[in-house]
Amino acid sequence: MTSVNRCLLLLCLSLFCSLPAHPQEGKTSLPALHAKAGVHCYDCHQEEKPSKKAVASDSCMTCHGDYPAMKVLTKDAKPNPHDSHLGEIPCTECHRQHQAPVVKCLECHQGKYKFKLK
Ligand code: HEC
Ligand code: HEC
Ligand code: HEC
Ligand code: HEC
Repeated sequence: MTSVNRCLLLLCLSLFCSLPAHPQEGKTSLPALHAKAGVHCYDCHQEEKPSKKAVASDSCMTCHGDYPAMKVLTKDAKPNPHDSHLGEIPCTECHRQHQAPVVKCLECHQGKYKFKLK
């Protein structure tokens, strides 16, 4: 494959993957933010051809920082989703790239807490 074709293919793939996975998602959704910031498949998947293999939190942390850093970032959220009795669970338990996010906390605390999750 020529590098031009390869670029076009990656562009199509990234456009496809940045389609809103949820009607409420728009330009501020996670896929859109990552696409705008030029985050590539490889940055998260660590594979040239992403498979169904889970994305490691280490990939996210390379750019965003670790749990202590995330804890500071969301210090105003009550309760802080990055500082809970669940400990340092995988980022993708809540944040998704190709699907709508889920706040795992609400599986047990439904209706009790409100979060602004992208
Ligand atoms: C910001 C990180 C991130 C980027 C960038 C990203 N992915 Fe993913 N990808 C994930 C996560 C997290 C999952 C698992 C949960 C989900 O679906 O969002 C996943 C899941 C997948 C899966 C498995 C889907 C399934 O049905 O289980 C494939 C295939 C995939 N990604 C392909 C791609 C391709 C191709 C690109 C580039 C166009 C890409 N990803 C970019 C994070 C990312
Ligand atoms: C190559 C670097 C990179 C990787 C890898 C990456 N991100 Fe991002 N992410 C960014 C950039 C840049 C932005 C947009 C600027 C910002 O808001 O920080 C962003 C935005 C976000 C946001 C929205 C922040 C906001 O302002 O509300 C979340 C949440 C997020 N990323 C989580 C993740 C998760 C979870 C993973 C791993 C699955 C991941 N990111 C992987 C660079 C990255
Ligand atoms: C238990 C669910 C959960 C897990 C796991 C989780 N997050 Fe979050 N994250 C959230 C929620 C909820 C918010 C929004 C908080 C709010 O309401 O302001 C958030 C916000 C963020 C933001 C945006 C902060 C801002 O306001 O600019 C980033 C970046 C982020 N998370 C990255 C990560 C990374 C990286 C990991 C893994 C190390 C991670 N998160 C793990 C639930 C989670
Ligand atoms: C598997 C179920 C489950 C999940 C998932 C879960 N919790 Fe809990 N949580 C509990 C139980 C059970 C208690 C103790 C009883 C209670 O206070 O509701 C508790 C207690 C708490 C308390 C103390 C409540 C109080 O009033 O003193 C906070 C705060 C809390 N959880 C936050 C979180 C956050 C944030 C998350 C996500 C990062 C989360 N929980 C995920 C089950 C869960």
